[in-house]
Amino acid sequence: MLQDNIVESILGKTTQKRKSKIPAKLDFLQSATGLILAIFIIFHLLFEASILFGKDSMYAITKMFELDFFIKGGSPIFISILAFIIFAIFIFHAFLAMRKFPNSYREYLRLKTHAKLMKHSDTNLWIIQITTGFMLFFLGSIHLYTMLTQPANIGPFASSDRVYSDMFWPMYLMLLISVVLHAGVGIYRLIMKWGWFDGKNPKENRLRTRKIIKIITIIYLIIGLFSLITYIKIGYEHRDSYGERYKVITNEN
Ligand code: HEM
Repeated sequence: MLQDNIVESILGKTTQKRKSKIPAKLDFLQSATGLILAIFIIFHLLFEASILFGKDSMYAITKMFELDFFIKGGSPIFISILAFIIFAIFIFHAFLAMRKFPNSYREYLRLKTHAKLMKHSDTNLWIIQITTGFMLFFLGSIHLYTMLTQPANIGPFASSDRVYSDMFWPMYLMLLISVVLHAGVGIYRLIMKWGWFDGKNPKENRLRTRKIIKIITIIYLIIGLFSLITYIKIGYEHRDSYGERYKVITNEN
């Protein structure tokens, strides 16, 4: 891959390493774990945007993840199990990605200057990915740990209380921007790397893929921002009843 070659030449690495099969295997595992996480995020941000359709919709989705169709009333333990699995994949993916980090700040600066000189957009994308990936180490871990250990505190009021009263919204804003950019660039690079949509006219198809992914990334950022604003609004209105849980009003109540 071009940017890998550029990075190797800048960092002065030899091509000897390529003779081993291990880097290729690690590369594949990094792509595979990245793809799983990207698919998870694509669905996660949509499920979580259910708040845009009202509190009842978000409550129904929460209960679905607690498997209430399987066990009467559902159980938050299933959310913990899911969070554990995602956390394990997340840590493994980050561990594999560490190999690609520049080894020192000086190398990073050289890489940045190089990208500027070359005006090579794929190298710029690589820099976006490494920067957002670094932020995700921290932000993603905070969020996943919260979900793993407090699975019962999810719902229209519980989530909004966390976002507004517990002041999680700045963290979510940074997490949203980082993860959407990271996933968008990551998916684009995966498609380029494996040549999935190259067809008969790779040059044209690659440009088209880039345009489509750019549009989808922007749409996801907008959906995420509106969801976050909605959680903030509900949290603000609910601030005096902090801790109270949402209940669906039915004729039986
Ligand atoms: C199984 C694991 C996960 C669960 C159960 C989960 C659940 C949730 C829930 C319930 C919210 C709403 C806010 C709240 O209650 O605090 C939320 C928001 C969010 N989550 Fe997750 N999450 C998981 C994994 C992830 C991962 C791995 C990422 C990215 C690295 C992520 C990114 C986000 C973002 C960016 C928001 C805010 C979205 C917005 O502003 O619209 N989540 N998540």
